[in-house]
Amino acid sequence: MGAVIAVLSGKGGTGKTTTAAALACALSELGRRVVCVDADAELRNLDLCLGLGDQALMDYGDVLAGRCSLEKALVGPADFPALKLLPAPQEPAEESLEAVVMPLREQFDYCLIDCPGGLRAALAAAFPADRALVVANADACSHRDGERIAQLLRGGPECFLLMNRVSPRLLRSEKMTLDDSMDRVGLRLIGYVPEDNRVPLALAAGTPLLAADKRTWRGAAAAFRRIARRLDGQRVPIR
Ligand SMILES: Nc1ncnc2c1ncn2[C@@H]1O[C@H](COP(=O)(O)OP(=O)(O)OP(=O)(O)O)[C@@H](O)[C@H]1O
Ligand SMILES: [Mg+2]
Repeated sequence: MGAVIAVLSGKGGTGKTTTAAALACALSELGRRVVCVDADAELRNLDLCLGLGDQALMDYGDVLAGRCSLEKALVGPADFPALKLLPAPQEPAEESLEAVVMPLREQFDYCLIDCPGGLRAALAAAFPADRALVVANADACSHRDGERIAQLLRGGPECFLLMNRVSPRLLRSEKMTLDDSMDRVGLRLIGYVPEDNRVPLALAAGTPLLAADKRTWRGAAAAFRRIARRLDGQRVPIR
């Protein structure tokens, strides 16, 4: 049975989709069978972050309505043969994701769920998960929203904080540290990802970040690779 990991946040736009796509690629580089589920019905874009914008033809709405099989809806980027995406419908979805997540759990080592913005929708999408990554940025609004979602997840999946778009210079100027972020959100840190303009550049080129950045050991791609190894049980120092 594979592990189900929800990627969510209180506040929108913190980098959930970027994180789900990059961690899925990084886990597949480690030789794991990975599927990511885009749970952001209507506003999907995980397909774009994986360079699959023109291939996501069927979605989990089609699967739940019996219009196609689960296997037929799965698509995968050429650079990552062990990675599949289950796209979200482009219209509102009423059905629970659990019915598709359960069979995926049997076939894959990791199932990552890219949750939508908004507290209620995010919590509903994260419901089948074993672990939850709360993605936050280093600002007061994001801390407060992260703290709120962490409280609401209590008693559910095991939760970690993932700090994204971290700028060491900004932290220094505000006399803040990542420990302050951890204290404010109230979760254990799984890792931090720096602000890196290669993230929007890869998106604009229609290439997964980790395919665009195969060699460097700095920047966002490297940070996601380190977090993936931690998720996979390896001991990798945070800093
Ligand atoms: N580490 C980073 N460095 C630079 N830009 C980033 C980084 N992470 C994300 N971004 C940019 O931030 C924007 C929002 O990212 P993303 O779409 O992943 O957020 P989201 O939390 O999924 O948003 P939503 O709540 O709308 O689903 C995108 O333009 C993305 O390219
Ligand atoms: Mg998103």
